[in-house]
Amino acid sequence: MSLNLNNLNEVAEAMVAPGKGILAADESTGTIGKRFDQIDTESTEQTRNAYRDLLFSSDGFEEYISGVIMYDETLRQSSLKDNSPYPEYLTSLGVIPGIKVDAGAHSLAGTEDEKITSGLDGLDERLKEYRELGARFAKWRAVINITATNPSDYCIQTNAHALARYAALCQANDIVPIVEPEILMDGEHDIEDSFVVTEEVLRTVFNELYTQGVQLEEMILKPNMVLSGYDSQERAGVDEVASATVQCFLRSVPAAVPGIAFLSGGQSDEDATAHLNAMNQILGDNKPWNLSFSYGRALQQPALKAWQGKDENVTKAQDAFLKRAKLNSLASLGKYSSDQE
Ligand code: 13P
Repeated sequence: MSLNLNNLNEVAEAMVAPGKGILAADESTGTIGKRFDQIDTESTEQTRNAYRDLLFSSDGFEEYISGVIMYDETLRQSSLKDNSPYPEYLTSLGVIPGIKVDAGAHSLAGTEDEKITSGLDGLDERLKEYRELGARFAKWRAVINITATNPSDYCIQTNAHALARYAALCQANDIVPIVEPEILMDGEHDIEDSFVVTEEVLRTVFNELYTQGVQLEEMILKPNMVLSGYDSQERAGVDEVASATVQCFLRSVPAAVPGIAFLSGGQSDEDATAHLNAMNQILGDNKPWNLSFSYGRALQQPALKAWQGKDENVTKAQDAFLKRAKLNSLASLGKYSSDQE
Protein backbone atom coordinates (compact mmCIF):
# COMPACT_ATOMS: atom_id res chain seq x y z
CA MET A 1 0.00 0.00 0.00
CA SER A 2 1.42 3.38 -0.79
CA LEU A 3 0.09 6.62 0.57
CA ASN A 4 -0.80 9.49 -1.63
CA LEU A 5 0.37 12.47 0.41
CA ASN A 6 0.11 15.72 -1.46
CA ASN A 7 0.89 18.32 1.11
CA LEU A 8 2.46 18.78 4.51
CA ASN A 9 -0.84 18.73 6.36
CA GLU A 10 -1.71 15.36 4.80
CA VAL A 11 1.70 13.97 5.80
CA ALA A 12 1.29 15.27 9.37
CA GLU A 13 -2.23 13.82 9.63
CA ALA A 14 -1.03 10.46 8.29
CA MET A 15 1.77 10.38 10.88
CA VAL A 16 -0.83 10.38 13.66
CA ALA A 17 -3.63 8.49 11.87
CA PRO A 18 -5.94 6.67 14.31
CA GLY A 19 -4.26 3.57 15.74
CA LYS A 20 -0.84 4.50 14.41
CA GLY A 21 2.34 5.96 15.82
CA ILE A 22 5.93 6.61 14.87
CA LEU A 23 8.95 4.36 15.39
CA ALA A 24 11.98 6.36 16.52
CA ALA A 25 14.89 4.33 15.12
CA ASP A 26 17.18 7.34 14.72
CA GLU A 27 19.77 6.59 17.38
CA SER A 28 23.07 8.23 16.45
CA THR A 29 26.05 5.93 15.91
CA GLY A 30 27.17 6.67 19.48
CA THR A 31 23.77 5.91 21.03
CA ILE A 32 23.11 2.70 19.10
CA GLY A 33 26.62 1.62 20.11
CA LYS A 34 25.58 1.94 23.77
CA ARG A 35 22.40 -0.07 23.10
CA PHE A 36 24.44 -2.78 21.36
CA ASP A 37 26.89 -2.85 24.30
CA GLN A 38 23.97 -3.95 26.49
CA ILE A 39 23.58 -7.07 24.32
CA ASP A 40 27.31 -7.63 23.75
CA THR A 41 27.04 -6.92 20.06
CA GLU A 42 29.63 -5.04 18.09
CA SER A 43 28.31 -1.91 16.41
CA THR A 44 29.37 -1.85 12.76
CA GLU A 45 27.68 -0.49 9.68
CA GLN A 46 26.56 -4.04 8.91
CA THR A 47 25.18 -4.92 12.34
CA ARG A 48 23.34 -1.59 12.48
CA ASN A 49 21.83 -2.32 9.08
CA ALA A 50 20.88 -5.86 10.16
CA TYR A 51 19.17 -4.55 13.29
CA ARG A 52 17.21 -1.79 11.55
CA ASP A 53 16.27 -4.26 8.82
CA LEU A 54 14.90 -6.63 11.42
CA LEU A 55 12.57 -3.89 12.63
CA PHE A 56 11.52 -2.70 9.17
CA SER A 57 10.82 -6.21 7.88
CA SER A 58 8.63 -7.26 10.82
CA ASP A 59 5.56 -8.77 9.29
CA GLY A 60 2.64 -6.32 9.27
CA PHE A 61 4.30 -3.61 11.40
CA GLU A 62 2.84 -1.05 9.01
CA GLU A 63 -0.56 -1.73 10.57
CA TYR A 64 0.63 0.06 13.73
CA ILE A 65 3.49 2.25 12.56
CA SER A 66 2.85 5.27 10.34
CA GLY A 67 6.42 6.46 9.96
CA VAL A 68 10.00 5.74 10.92
CA ILE A 69 12.60 8.29 12.04
CA MET A 70 16.01 7.28 10.73
CA TYR A 71 19.57 8.43 11.26
CA ASP A 72 21.54 9.68 8.24
CA GLU A 73 23.38 6.37 7.83
CA THR A 74 20.15 4.31 7.78
CA LEU A 75 18.41 6.60 5.30
CA ARG A 76 21.22 5.75 2.87
CA GLN A 77 21.16 2.00 3.57
CA SER A 78 19.01 -0.60 1.82
CA SER A 79 16.58 -3.36 2.64
CA LEU A 80 18.30 -6.73 2.97
CA LYS A 81 15.22 -8.31 1.39
CA ASP A 82 15.13 -6.59 -1.99
CA ASN A 83 18.06 -4.16 -1.85
CA SER A 84 15.81 -1.13 -2.26
CA PRO A 85 16.90 2.01 -0.36
CA TYR A 86 14.98 2.28 2.92
CA PRO A 87 13.00 5.38 1.97
CA GLU A 88 11.71 3.55 -1.11
CA TYR A 89 11.19 0.28 0.74
CA LEU A 90 9.24 1.92 3.60
CA THR A 91 7.15 4.01 1.22
CA SER A 92 6.13 0.85 -0.66
CA LEU A 93 4.72 -0.47 2.63
CA GLY A 94 2.82 2.77 3.27
CA VAL A 95 5.26 3.80 6.00
CA ILE A 96 6.52 7.39 5.84
CA PRO A 97 10.31 7.87 5.92
CA GLY A 98 11.67 10.46 8.34
CA ILE A 99 15.11 11.77 9.27
CA LYS A 100 16.77 13.10 12.43
CA VAL A 101 18.46 16.35 11.46
CA ASP A 102 19.77 17.86 14.67
CA ALA A 103 23.43 17.48 15.55
CA GLY A 104 22.91 16.65 19.20
CA ALA A 105 22.70 18.61 22.45
CA HIS A 106 25.84 20.44 23.58
CA SER A 107 26.76 22.57 26.60
CA LEU A 108 25.01 25.92 26.62
CA ALA A 109 27.69 28.52 27.31
CA GLY A 110 27.26 30.45 30.53
CA THR A 111 24.99 27.93 32.23
CA GLU A 112 25.29 25.29 34.90
CA ASP A 113 24.86 22.01 33.07
CA GLU A 114 22.29 23.14 30.48
CA LYS A 115 22.16 22.18 26.81
CA ILE A 116 21.52 23.71 23.42
CA THR A 117 20.89 21.64 20.33
CA SER A 118 23.15 22.35 17.38
CA GLY A 119 22.71 21.65 13.67
CA LEU A 120 21.28 24.82 12.10
CA ASP A 121 24.40 25.53 10.03
CA GLY A 122 23.95 23.97 6.60
CA LEU A 123 20.53 22.62 7.55
CA ASP A 124 18.80 24.09 4.50
CA GLU A 125 21.13 22.18 2.15
CA ARG A 126 20.83 18.97 4.14
CA LEU A 127 17.04 19.17 4.11
CA LYS A 128 17.07 19.57 0.33
CA GLU A 129 19.15 16.43 0.00
CA TYR A 130 17.02 14.46 2.47
CA ARG A 131 13.85 15.45 0.58
CA GLU A 132 15.49 14.19 -2.62
CA LEU A 133 16.32 10.93 -0.87
CA GLY A 134 12.64 10.52 0.05
CA ALA A 135 12.29 11.88 3.60
CA ARG A 136 8.87 13.45 4.20
CA PHE A 137 9.38 14.49 7.81
CA ALA A 138 12.24 15.37 10.15
CA LYS A 139 13.04 15.49 13.86
CA TRP A 140 14.92 17.97 16.05
CA ARG A 141 15.28 17.31 19.78
CA ALA A 142 15.90 19.99 22.37
CA VAL A 143 16.90 18.84 25.86
CA ILE A 144 15.93 20.63 29.05
CA ASN A 145 16.71 19.43 32.56
CA ILE A 146 15.10 20.15 35.91
CA THR A 147 17.27 20.81 38.98
CA ALA A 148 16.95 23.19 41.95
CA THR A 149 18.03 26.05 39.64
CA ASN A 150 17.31 24.77 36.10
CA PRO A 151 15.90 25.35 33.61
CA SER A 152 16.93 28.96 33.09
CA ASP A 153 14.79 31.24 30.91
CA TYR A 154 17.85 31.58 28.69
CA CYS A 155 17.98 27.82 28.07
CA ILE A 156 14.25 27.61 27.33
CA GLN A 157 14.36 30.62 25.00
CA THR A 158 17.41 29.60 23.00
CA ASN A 159 16.15 26.06 22.51
CA ALA A 160 12.68 27.27 21.51
CA HIS A 161 14.25 29.69 19.04
CA ALA A 162 16.34 26.92 17.44
CA LEU A 163 13.35 24.56 17.27
CA ALA A 164 11.33 27.21 15.43
CA ARG A 165 14.18 27.99 13.02
CA TYR A 166 14.49 24.29 12.23
CA ALA A 167 10.71 23.90 11.80
CA ALA A 168 10.45 26.89 9.44
CA LEU A 169 13.32 25.53 7.32
CA CYS A 170 11.67 22.10 7.14
CA GLN A 171 8.39 23.54 5.92
CA ALA A 172 10.21 25.68 3.34
CA ASN A 173 11.72 22.43 2.03
CA ASP A 174 8.43 20.48 1.93
CA ILE A 175 9.25 18.44 5.03
CA VAL A 176 7.02 18.08 8.11
CA PRO A 177 8.93 19.03 11.27
CA ILE A 178 8.60 16.98 14.42
CA VAL A 179 9.20 19.57 17.12
CA GLU A 180 10.65 17.82 20.16
CA PRO A 181 11.27 19.80 23.33
CA GLU A 182 12.21 17.05 25.78
CA ILE A 183 12.20 17.82 29.47
CA LEU A 184 14.25 15.06 31.07
CA MET A 185 12.61 13.22 33.92
CA ASP A 186 15.90 12.46 35.67
CA GLY A 187 16.01 14.01 39.13
CA GLU A 188 14.13 14.24 42.39
CA HIS A 189 11.51 16.77 41.33
CA ASP A 190 7.83 16.05 41.84
CA ILE A 191 5.06 15.98 39.24
CA GLU A 192 4.05 19.58 39.99
CA ASP A 193 7.54 20.80 39.01
CA SER A 194 7.33 18.74 35.86
CA PHE A 195 3.94 20.29 35.05
CA VAL A 196 5.14 23.87 35.57
CA VAL A 197 8.29 23.44 33.47
CA THR A 198 6.49 21.53 30.68
CA GLU A 199 3.80 24.22 30.43
CA GLU A 200 6.36 27.02 30.35
CA VAL A 201 8.46 25.29 27.71
CA LEU A 202 5.48 24.52 25.49
CA ARG A 203 4.15 28.07 25.71
CA THR A 204 7.59 29.42 24.81
CA VAL A 205 7.99 27.00 21.92
CA PHE A 206 4.58 27.83 20.43
CA ASN A 207 5.26 31.51 20.80
CA GLU A 208 8.51 31.11 18.82
CA LEU A 209 6.78 28.95 16.20
CA TYR A 210 4.24 31.73 15.76
CA THR A 211 6.90 34.45 15.61
CA GLN A 212 8.79 32.56 12.93
CA GLY A 213 5.72 31.80 10.81
CA VAL A 214 5.59 28.03 11.28
CA GLN A 215 2.29 26.52 10.12
CA LEU A 216 0.88 24.55 13.03
CA GLU A 217 -1.25 22.35 10.73
CA GLU A 218 1.97 21.13 9.14
CA MET A 219 3.93 19.89 12.17
CA ILE A 220 3.86 17.24 14.87
CA LEU A 221 4.73 17.90 18.51
CA LYS A 222 6.87 15.29 20.26
CA PRO A 223 6.92 16.07 23.98
CA ASN A 224 7.62 14.35 27.26
CA MET A 225 4.74 13.27 29.45
CA VAL A 226 4.28 15.07 32.77
CA LEU A 227 5.87 12.59 35.18
CA SER A 228 7.46 12.71 38.62
CA GLY A 229 11.27 12.78 38.49
CA TYR A 230 12.62 9.24 38.40
CA ASP A 231 14.30 9.79 41.80
CA SER A 232 11.34 11.57 43.36
CA GLN A 233 10.29 10.38 46.85
CA GLU A 234 6.72 9.77 45.79
CA ARG A 235 6.08 8.98 42.19
CA ALA A 236 2.69 9.74 40.66
CA GLY A 237 0.65 6.78 39.39
CA VAL A 238 -0.83 6.24 35.93
CA ASP A 239 -4.06 8.18 36.48
CA GLU A 240 -2.32 11.19 37.97
CA VAL A 241 0.26 11.29 35.16
CA ALA A 242 -2.46 11.03 32.53
CA SER A 243 -4.64 13.77 33.98
CA ALA A 244 -1.70 16.14 34.61
CA THR A 245 -0.36 15.62 31.09
CA VAL A 246 -3.74 16.14 29.46
CA GLN A 247 -4.38 19.30 31.49
CA CYS A 248 -0.93 20.69 30.69
CA PHE A 249 -1.34 20.10 26.94
CA LEU A 250 -4.92 21.39 26.78
CA ARG A 251 -3.54 24.64 28.23
CA SER A 252 -0.55 25.00 25.99
CA VAL A 253 -0.90 23.19 22.64
CA PRO A 254 -3.09 24.87 20.00
CA ALA A 255 -5.82 22.70 18.46
CA ALA A 256 -4.46 23.42 14.97
CA VAL A 257 -1.61 20.93 15.62
CA PRO A 258 -2.67 17.60 14.04
CA GLY A 259 -1.02 15.40 16.61
CA ILE A 260 1.07 14.92 19.70
CA ALA A 261 3.38 11.91 19.49
CA PHE A 262 5.04 11.33 22.85
CA LEU A 263 8.60 10.21 23.44
CA SER A 264 9.04 7.45 26.01
CA GLY A 265 12.04 9.01 27.78
CA GLY A 266 13.22 6.01 29.77
CA GLN A 267 9.83 4.91 31.15
CA SER A 268 9.27 1.17 31.34
CA ASP A 269 7.60 -0.29 28.24
CA GLU A 270 4.41 -0.99 30.18
CA ASP A 271 4.26 2.48 31.76
CA ALA A 272 4.71 4.20 28.40
CA THR A 273 1.78 2.19 27.02
CA ALA A 274 -0.43 2.56 30.10
CA HIS A 275 0.08 6.34 30.27
CA LEU A 276 -0.79 6.84 26.61
CA ASN A 277 -3.87 4.68 26.99
CA ALA A 278 -5.08 6.52 30.10
CA MET A 279 -4.71 9.91 28.38
CA ASN A 280 -6.75 8.74 25.41
CA GLN A 281 -9.41 7.40 27.75
CA ILE A 282 -9.66 10.75 29.52
CA LEU A 283 -10.03 12.65 26.24
CA GLY A 284 -12.34 10.14 24.52
CA ASP A 285 -13.60 11.33 21.13
CA ASN A 286 -13.40 14.90 22.24
CA LYS A 287 -9.76 15.51 21.29
CA PRO A 288 -8.27 18.68 19.82
CA TRP A 289 -5.33 16.61 18.49
CA ASN A 290 -4.57 12.92 18.10
CA LEU A 291 -2.48 11.58 20.96
CA SER A 292 -0.04 8.96 19.86
CA PHE A 293 3.51 7.69 20.29
CA SER A 294 6.93 8.24 18.77
CA TYR A 295 8.81 5.84 20.98
CA GLY A 296 12.39 4.71 20.70
CA ARG A 297 13.26 2.59 23.71
CA ALA A 298 9.66 1.67 24.66
CA LEU A 299 9.18 0.08 21.21
CA GLN A 300 12.63 -1.41 20.76
CA GLN A 301 13.99 -2.54 24.10
CA PRO A 302 12.34 -6.01 24.20
CA ALA A 303 13.31 -6.62 20.56
CA LEU A 304 16.91 -5.68 21.18
CA LYS A 305 17.04 -8.02 24.19
CA ALA A 306 15.50 -10.88 22.23
CA TRP A 307 17.84 -10.34 19.28
CA GLN A 308 21.21 -10.42 21.09
CA GLY A 309 22.89 -9.75 17.72
CA LYS A 310 22.12 -13.28 16.46
CA ASP A 311 20.45 -14.25 13.18
CA GLU A 312 18.63 -17.15 14.79
CA ASN A 313 16.81 -14.73 17.11
CA VAL A 314 15.42 -12.43 14.41
CA THR A 315 11.87 -13.86 14.46
CA LYS A 316 11.74 -13.71 18.26
CA ALA A 317 12.93 -10.10 18.17
CA GLN A 318 10.38 -9.17 15.51
CA ASP A 319 7.60 -10.72 17.61
CA ALA A 320 8.72 -8.65 20.60
CA PHE A 321 8.71 -5.46 18.50
CA LEU A 322 5.30 -6.25 16.97
CA LYS A 323 3.85 -6.84 20.42
CA ARG A 324 4.89 -3.37 21.66
CA ALA A 325 3.79 -1.76 18.39
CA LYS A 326 0.36 -3.38 18.64
CA LEU A 327 -0.14 -2.53 22.33
CA ASN A 328 0.85 1.10 21.76
CA SER A 329 -1.48 1.22 18.78
CA LEU A 330 -4.31 0.06 21.06
CA ALA A 331 -3.23 2.64 23.66
CA SER A 332 -3.42 5.41 21.07
CA LEU A 333 -7.09 4.43 20.70
CA GLY A 334 -7.64 4.10 24.47
CA LYS A 335 -8.26 0.36 23.99
CA TYR A 336 -5.30 -1.17 25.85
CA SER A 337 -5.53 -3.15 29.03
CA SER A 338 -2.66 -4.59 31.07
CA ASP A 339 -4.18 -8.10 30.60
CA GLN A 340 -2.94 -7.87 27.01
CA GLU A 341 0.69 -7.80 28.19
P1 13P B 1 12.67 7.46 23.57
O1 13P B 1 11.25 7.04 23.29
O2 13P B 1 13.60 6.29 23.83
O3 13P B 1 12.75 8.53 24.61
O4 13P B 1 13.26 8.07 22.23
C1 13P B 1 12.46 8.87 21.48
C2 13P B 1 13.29 9.84 20.73
O5 13P B 1 13.25 9.89 19.54
C3 13P B 1 14.11 10.79 21.50
O6 13P B 1 14.54 11.81 20.65
